[in-house]
Amino acid sequence: MPTILPGREIARQPARTAVMKGLILSGGAGTRLRPITHTSAKQLVPVANKPILFYGIEDMAEAGITEIGIIVGSTAAEIEAAVGDGSRFGVHVSYLPQDEPLGLAHCVLIARDFLGDDDFVMYLGDNMLEQGLGGFIARWESQHTAALQPALGDAPDGPTGAPAAQILLTPVPDPQRFGVAELDDEGNVVALVEKPEDPPSDLALVGVYLFSKLIHQAVAAIAPSARGELEITDAIQWLIDSGAPVHHDLLDGWWLDTGKKDPLLESNRRVLESLEARVDGEVDADSKVDGRVVIEAGARLVNSEVRGPAIIGAGSVITSSYIGPFTAVAANCEVTDSEIDQSVIMEGARIRAVPRLTDSLMGRDSEVTRGARRSQATRVTLGDHSTVELA
Ligand code: G1P
Repeated sequence: MPTILPGREIARQPARTAVMKGLILSGGAGTRLRPITHTSAKQLVPVANKPILFYGIEDMAEAGITEIGIIVGSTAAEIEAAVGDGSRFGVHVSYLPQDEPLGLAHCVLIARDFLGDDDFVMYLGDNMLEQGLGGFIARWESQHTAALQPALGDAPDGPTGAPAAQILLTPVPDPQRFGVAELDDEGNVVALVEKPEDPPSDLALVGVYLFSKLIHQAVAAIAPSARGELEITDAIQWLIDSGAPVHHDLLDGWWLDTGKKDPLLESNRRVLESLEARVDGEVDADSKVDGRVVIEAGARLVNSEVRGPAIIGAGSVITSSYIGPFTAVAANCEVTDSEIDQSVIMEGARIRAVPRLTDSLMGRDSEVTRGARRSQATRVTLGDHSTVELA
């Protein structure tokens, strides 16, 4: 993934040896992805057959971060089982329990011992970014190096002090739903406000932040917001009010907060578009694979067509069916006499005789079938908070 931000040439390895840690927030309950999240953590919902959370961990590992703390809530056991000690990603993971979801700044409070006095990247576990973290971190490092070595001279428009925080911003059509930044004429961040009714700009805070140890003073000083949470946005505002430099970068590429079905399907589309085609499974003589398609080892296509971008997980069997673009079928699924596109199908799901399933998210071991009589009747057994749209 490209990591260089537009208009900036950044050395990947600046001459600074400070440790940078990672903090991933995965405590949230994921109410907007019910019913999937009744039984499964929202950060483990798969995008292109890989849990969302893994993308963040991999981005950190790629940026050279080896110590990662993950804030976990009621889904701690499931997250720990999936991520383990981090060695498969080449990192070391510590789990930091949060008893109640009291806000993003509360997560920093909880992580105080883990973080010590080190700089850290904070990453919201349900966010997905096209850009890696390398350029964002390199910019932070180079500003700290410049501030530490004033004798070498800054560029005339360069930093005047090492930042206490660095945020990532991007224009959005609906800033009321996010933390929003106000910049002055020189492009300095002068104010941040969480979910404003009357937004001062359209620049939303993306769920990735860089902090120095000064943030610990800020999170200890702020009071809960109207929604009863300690807001990280308020903590960064506290830094600005205290005269600490807060820098920003503009996001390069796409970013999605995957907490709801449609953005999740959108992330799935984006990631599938960048897959390397590969057929490791079995494709029989009556089947056809077209475009950017991954068929994992142990998957089988029988008299079927898969048109990419799409992925079929290990052990899944697709019989007399059509799997259309932007579809991820996880492991051990069974699709027979059906057509699916634009969907995320989780492990062990079964789909039989369904003429066209589209824009759908199916949970683990769920089932959609069609009776032989093909009447207008629909029979369902739905979990709490399920949604069925008869198109
Ligand atoms: C949080 C932050 C908000 C930020 C957003 C990014 O919002 O509070 O400032 O813009 O993440 O996803 P929340 O997801 O808690 O509503």
